[in-house]
Amino acid sequence: MKWPYKDLLDVDMLSVDEANRIFDAAESFMEINTRSVKKVPTLKGKSVVLFFAEPSTRTKTSFDVAGKRLSADTFSLAKSSSSLTKGETLKDTVLTLQSMNPDAIVLRDSRSGAAKFIAERLNCAVVNAGDGWHAHPTQALLDAFTLRRAWNGEFEGKTLLILGDITHSRVARSNVHLLTTLGVKVRVCGPRTLLPPRMETWPVEVYTNLDEAVTGVDAVMCLRLQLERQQDGLLPDLREYARTYGLGMRHVELMKPHAKILHPGPINRGMELSSEIADMADSLILDQVASGVAIRMAVLFLLITRKD
Ligand code: CP
Repeated sequence: MKWPYKDLLDVDMLSVDEANRIFDAAESFMEINTRSVKKVPTLKGKSVVLFFAEPSTRTKTSFDVAGKRLSADTFSLAKSSSSLTKGETLKDTVLTLQSMNPDAIVLRDSRSGAAKFIAERLNCAVVNAGDGWHAHPTQALLDAFTLRRAWNGEFEGKTLLILGDITHSRVARSNVHLLTTLGVKVRVCGPRTLLPPRMETWPVEVYTNLDEAVTGVDAVMCLRLQLERQQDGLLPDLREYARTYGLGMRHVELMKPHAKILHPGPINRGMELSSEIADMADSLILDQVASGVAIRMAVLFLLITRKD
């Protein structure tokens, strides 16, 4: 069956069956990533532009690796080395890139809605690699895929806590949508100043007390403080934040045995979680990175081959 969508802009466009189709494709690509020769000819002759107007380590590198492992040609453009710095608009930049006939453009931009804006103007596939506070669909897909593997495919009956700066987090928004769609009960916890308005419309349980929030959970996803997106005055003191909302070993006692720890990265050890937690056996932080390559291979494969 053909993949129905030209673009991947957020997870809210995906049904459970479509998410599972991405996971099943990613599962087969996980195997390729363990071979001594990690390359298949699936996307030979196709080209993917990686246009990252915001910094990235994991997302950009893993899309690059994903494309190359499928034999696509990948081309990178950063904001600092692009003509955006000379006043060219995003629209003119991507129309310029499209004239070189890529099969997909992967875009990260600080403006919410940037990926949708260009997807409506381009014929090639557009993948949202993070747009402002709005969405980070491949992050949510790789997080759910990592949990699917850790929980042997069982999402129903599981409870996951998302902890930290919820307001400024596109990861939280995409994860809440996807995980609740898959049947996970989601809690969120953070200081009131970092919880978005109208949280009562989100399908989550809201906490401001971390001890209460972690009690009995199957997994905790810690979030980085998005200081680059915050206004002054939301947090009186970072050390106080770390003391009140940093995940430490004492919280592990309150969770279910072998509860999993996730973090989309980049992590700030000693801020949103302790080093001991980041490195413990039940931490899935590096598994998330490995899943990220396979999920991005699956997304590029489904979008680029849908018309072949
Ligand atoms: N999780 C994530 O998006 O990380 P990068 O900013 O390093 O891509």
